Amino acid sequence: MERTRITIFDTTLRDGEQSPGCSMRLDEKLRMARQLDRLGVDVIEAGFPIASDGDFEAVQAVAHELRRPRIAGLARASFEDIDRAWQAVRHAQRPRIHVFLATSDIHLHYKLRMTRQQCLERAAEAVRIARSLCSDVEFSPEDATRTEVEFLCEVTEAVVEAGATTVNIPDTVGYTVPREMYRIIEAVCDRVRNRPDVVISVHCHNDLGLAVANSIAGLEAGARQVECTVNGIGERAGNASLEEIVMALRVRCDQMPYDTGIRGEQLYPSSRLLTEITGALVQPNKAIVGRNAFAHEAGIHQDGVIKNPLTYEIMTPQSVGVPESKLVLGKHSGRHALGLKCQQLGYEFSRRDLDRIYKRFVALADQIKVVEDRHLLAIIQEEMPALAAIKEMAKGHAVGSPMGTA
Ligand code: KIV
Ligand code: ZN
Repeated sequence: MERTRITIFDTTLRDGEQSPGCSMRLDEKLRMARQLDRLGVDVIEAGFPIASDGDFEAVQAVAHELRRPRIAGLARASFEDIDRAWQAVRHAQRPRIHVFLATSDIHLHYKLRMTRQQCLERAAEAVRIARSLCSDVEFSPEDATRTEVEFLCEVTEAVVEAGATTVNIPDTVGYTVPREMYRIIEAVCDRVRNRPDVVISVHCHNDLGLAVANSIAGLEAGARQVECTVNGIGERAGNASLEEIVMALRVRCDQMPYDTGIRGEQLYPSSRLLTEITGALVQPNKAIVGRNAFAHEAGIHQDGVIKNPLTYEIMTPQSVGVPESKLVLGKHSGRHALGLKCQQLGYEFSRRDLDRIYKRFVALADQIKVVEDRHLLAIIQEEMPALAAIKEMAKGHAVGSPMGTA
């Protein structure tokens, strides 16, 4: 199967930063950008330079320091925005200006008060201005998935004609579904099939929990760039999660012939750093980087994982930078996992002694959700005298037993 390299466009520092409570200062953006570089993303969208002087300076600092990835700055379709974005990214080794303008009738009518014709002209003019400054220009028709497909294709043709090198199709309000996304991207790709140098991109929001599925549908229809964020942060319900897209493509490489340049073992450190910087906690059951993504509590699962992790894990924790899978001791856990945990804590028990510990453990697990090492150690310490006494008694029996056996 021939494999295609997909461009990973990370917008944690722009769309991600727009989620409530996630804004970052210059030093924080720089720290995160360095980690994104280690992670291996192809494009870092560092911010929206017209938004504030602070954001301008942060984008500029990222553009100055990071030499490998492309550095993009966002701009509305106006000269002032585009010029500001250009001033922020111009010192990057590989700068990109990302221009956007809404194209759906809802946005044109209520927000921009513009006709389709005016929108078409404004989009092309904005791209021409951006191209006069920078050789790498991305255009996004905002709310693309609620735009009539024929008009979306006309806009795509017009901005490509004006010099756009990437056309990004955003599902701005997370409204589309995979099959529809496939058809939209297929139509857009078809319209620019005579321009293999132009990249079609997808940018999906997660309002219906479909951002990753829609992004993958877009890739299958011909998109070659995917926009995403670490931990899936972003406006409202967030953006497509970078770690989920990358690992879906990697784990199911038998189904999807796409590669990325991402270093898997940097996924978890990236997630942790973002949480540390923003204070935005990751839900425990979040795929790939959630606290429970490699944790097992049910006895049957623990037993399987102890025998062979392949039974209940489709990727190794190490492949995404998580140190190891965790056996969580709770009321669903069995003797097998308890015995292993005792061993890890330095205690090896006979079957009979473990039974005794197990009874106490289950009684406690019924009251508290998770039995931590300290709880288990306390049980062991408390049971030690009783266990020793039982052992003594057993010895005595053995000596005193008429058969000489215990
Ligand atoms: O969701 C969106 O439409 C955007 C654009 C600016 C690309 O973030
Ligand atoms: Zn967005």
